Amino acid sequence: MAHGPPGPPDFLGGEPPVSASATIAPDFAHTPLGRKPFEMARAATLDDISRIVDDYGAAAERAKIAGSDGVQLHAANGYLVDQFLRSGTNLRDDDYGGSPENRTRFMREILERLIEVWGKDRVSVRLSPNGETQGCDDDNPPATFGAAAWVLEELGVSFLELRQPGPDGTFGCTDVPKQSDHIRKIYTGPVVLNSDYTAEQACAEVEAGKCEAVSFGRPYISNPDLAERIRTGAEWAPNVNVPASWYLPGPQGYIDYPALSGV
Ligand SMILES: Cc1cc2nc3c(=O)[nH]c(=O)nc-3n(C[C@H](O)[C@H](O)[C@H](O)COP(=O)(O)O)c2cc1C
Repeated sequence: MAHGPPGPPDFLGGEPPVSASATIAPDFAHTPLGRKPFEMARAATLDDISRIVDDYGAAAERAKIAGSDGVQLHAANGYLVDQFLRSGTNLRDDDYGGSPENRTRFMREILERLIEVWGKDRVSVRLSPNGETQGCDDDNPPATFGAAAWVLEELGVSFLELRQPGPDGTFGCTDVPKQSDHIRKIYTGPVVLNSDYTAEQACAEVEAGKCEAVSFGRPYISNPDLAERIRTGAEWAPNVNVPASWYLPGPQGYIDYPALSGV
């Protein structure tokens, strides 16, 4: 469940996007009509915050009607919840800004609402605790994401997924250290790690106790039968990084990679 990043006004009838503070993301937004420059956001009012928390509750209800198994709060990658979490994009001086604990308040309120709808065992969270993403960055990741981890521990969410690119990441890269070991000392539930994993590296991380599971993104696009390939040790089809078709409508580049014949 994501709410938009600082984005182009096409989606909002010409209105600026809402964020923690009036910031603007760098580079370009992906829109159905192609890439467009981001727009300056406006800072959410307290009324906006309460309305958005309600929106998340309504989305959670709809996910139930749609037959979902649960919901994951998208609090990563520079999107709205991440904008509140991180010191670089949250410049507020009210109860939702300032200390790391205050910056987690918005996420906590949303999670409480999701848990009302689904129960804690059906609510998970995605964070991206290391490094800049879409203009969102933090001056003290251990403090910020330690505070976020405390919220998740207190609320008992079902699992936590962490997108953590490394210095050689092929879809985002950063020298900011991965925060998962620190987070794991605070949040005691299952942790799923993500970014640039091979099957062998994923198994090694689980066996070393670094996480309970690893998630795959791009490999699943180019290998619709990825789980089967991992099980049988088959080769993976490479994903041509950032094909022009990504983020545009239509199947090309998303669902047109073949499965292995006979698998
Ligand atoms: C086409 C595409 C769309 C993506 N959209 C999202 C998104 O909406 N939210 C998100 O958190 N990550 C998104 N990601 C990032 C992936 O979830 C994942 O974190 C990233 O690809 C790194 O994992 P990988 O190395 O296994 O691909 C997207 C990735 C791709 C390739």
